[in-house]
Amino acid sequence: MAGQTIQEPVKTQQKCIAIFALLCCFAVLVVLIFSSVDILGDNEDGITEENCSKNCRIVLVENIPDDLTLSMDGRPHLPLSAGFHTLLDNARHSVEVVSPVWDLNSWDLKTKPGAAKQGQLLFQRLLSLKSRGVKLKIASSLTNSAELKALSASNAEVHFVNMTALTRGGLRSSFWIVDRKHIYIGSADMDWRSLSKRNELGVVVYNCSCLALDLHRVFSFYWQLHDRDYIPSIWSKRVTALYGKHEALELQLNATQATAYVSTSPDLFCPKDRTRDVDAIYQVIQSAKAFVFISVTDYLPLVNRSVRGTSVTRYWSPIDEVIREAVVLRGVKVRLLITFWKKTHPLTFNFVTSLKALCMQLHNCSLEVRFFSHKELKDDIQHGLNHNKYMVTDNALYIGNHDWVGSDFAFNAGVGLAVTMKKGLKDSGVTILEHVKAAFERDWRSHYAKSL
Ligand SMILES: *[C@@H]1O[C@H](CO)[C@@H](O)[C@H](O)[C@H]1NC(C)=O
Ligand SMILES: *[C@@H]1O[C@H](CO)[C@@H](O)[C@H](O)[C@H]1NC(C)=O
Ligand SMILES: *[C@@H]1O[C@H](CO)[C@@H](O)[C@H](O)[C@H]1NC(C)=O
Ligand SMILES: *[C@@H]1O[C@H](CO)[C@@H](O)[C@H](O)[C@H]1NC(C)=O
Ligand SMILES: *[C@@H]1O[C@H](CO)[C@@H](O)[C@H](O)[C@H]1NC(C)=O
Ligand SMILES: *[C@@H]1O[C@H](CO)[C@@H](O)[C@H](O)[C@H]1NC(C)=O
Repeated sequence: MAGQTIQEPVKTQQKCIAIFALLCCFAVLVVLIFSSVDILGDNEDGITEENCSKNCRIVLVENIPDDLTLSMDGRPHLPLSAGFHTLLDNARHSVEVVSPVWDLNSWDLKTKPGAAKQGQLLFQRLLSLKSRGVKLKIASSLTNSAELKALSASNAEVHFVNMTALTRGGLRSSFWIVDRKHIYIGSADMDWRSLSKRNELGVVVYNCSCLALDLHRVFSFYWQLHDRDYIPSIWSKRVTALYGKHEALELQLNATQATAYVSTSPDLFCPKDRTRDVDAIYQVIQSAKAFVFISVTDYLPLVNRSVRGTSVTRYWSPIDEVIREAVVLRGVKVRLLITFWKKTHPLTFNFVTSLKALCMQLHNCSLEVRFFSHKELKDDIQHGLNHNKYMVTDNALYIGNHDWVGSDFAFNAGVGLAVTMKKGLKDSGVTILEHVKAAFERDWRSHYAKSL
């Protein structure tokens, strides 16, 4: 009897220790799981993939420099700066921004006074988000940006992505996510030139939490690379793709049924199920039946790789290939609008001449190339007047962050948005495709676009 009464407390003690150890393990596990997930604020308004909104509004936003005379055909065209301000007006909780450049105020003394007015205004509005209790989060690969310092001194949380260590490329992504509900994707950077001196084109999508959730996963991916010098082999579920080319999001854009997904590059930045930019471009060109209109600053099917310390340039075929196939084998009409500027690679002319030569003596074959430039504007030659990076076809649209240069897709981080319209019963009015097509045709017909 006596022995039993002595053993009893020992047993409960052992039990206690076991339970305590279990609790510890559990706590460590919880910490481990959530340390790789930005849990706080991740479920703002408790929106999930199941109950997110697919009834969206899409608006084309453009910047057209004052010194260009482009005939607008009386079409409504929302200035890019107005698009950004509307997004900020709508922000209640959070604004998340990725941009390769932060130069809204123009620190360069040579800038004409007034030219950077829109940029300065936008910068002030970003600073003033604090007073409204709206969080500002920025992912960037810049190490010494005066504007990022000013923003983080005010209210912004800035995460540094060391692209040099990760891919030896740059963070070229340019997008906004507001309240996990509204998004912007396009060619413009947080650069005063994007709001005054360059042609820029993008889209703002409102009330579209499904698409915003997916784009937010790209943002979370960058966010988690903060100060890392390697890409983890195991990723939190929070960064894998929700939609892709095989399983696109079905949504409504204004009154039109459409499908959409977000693509990214480089390959190392594509976690499970994420469609690569190149594959999205491939799919959009392949599904074109009648035409493909492309507007990019640079077109160059080459990639630079470093092999044992020396730089080796190789032919990079994916996009060139699919264009050739569409033109020659499917009779799709292709137009390529490229910028002629200081950094236009001399081989660009050889590659586009070769593309044009394809149609020699073929009926029903059309591939045209024009170069966009404005001789009188010196800055045009410096910075590339036509900064657009998009493609529109008879049934789809692709808006990205990269120029169509092999090295960009191979090393630089960027995102793209692929949208396909469903030929529908209730085709009502003008779709986003028609807006973008009209913008392309306006630039194509302008006297700034010249054949070789
Ligand atoms: C969406 O679903 C989540 C989890 O199922 C729930 O917590 C949340 O309240 C829902 N949100 C809305 C807006 O219905
Ligand atoms: C980024 O990574 C490179 C290479 O690992 C390193 O040399 C550099 O110091 C890092 N930069 C910063 C700001 O941490
Ligand atoms: C988004 O939805 C809200 C609530 O349904 C509505 O008040 C608002 O006008 C919508 N925004 C746009 C741009 O359609
Ligand atoms: C590749 O690198 C060389 C030397 O650094 C440079 O001259 C060339 O323009 C680069 N080509 C591409 C496609 O980036
Ligand atoms: C050109 O090709 C397209 C697509 O195959 C076809 O629809 C069209 O009828 C052809 N036009 C001529 C003139 O052959
Ligand atoms: C979609 O609706 C919004 C708001 O009503 C409008 O501003 C925009 O121009 C429409 N977009 C298209 C492509 O018609």
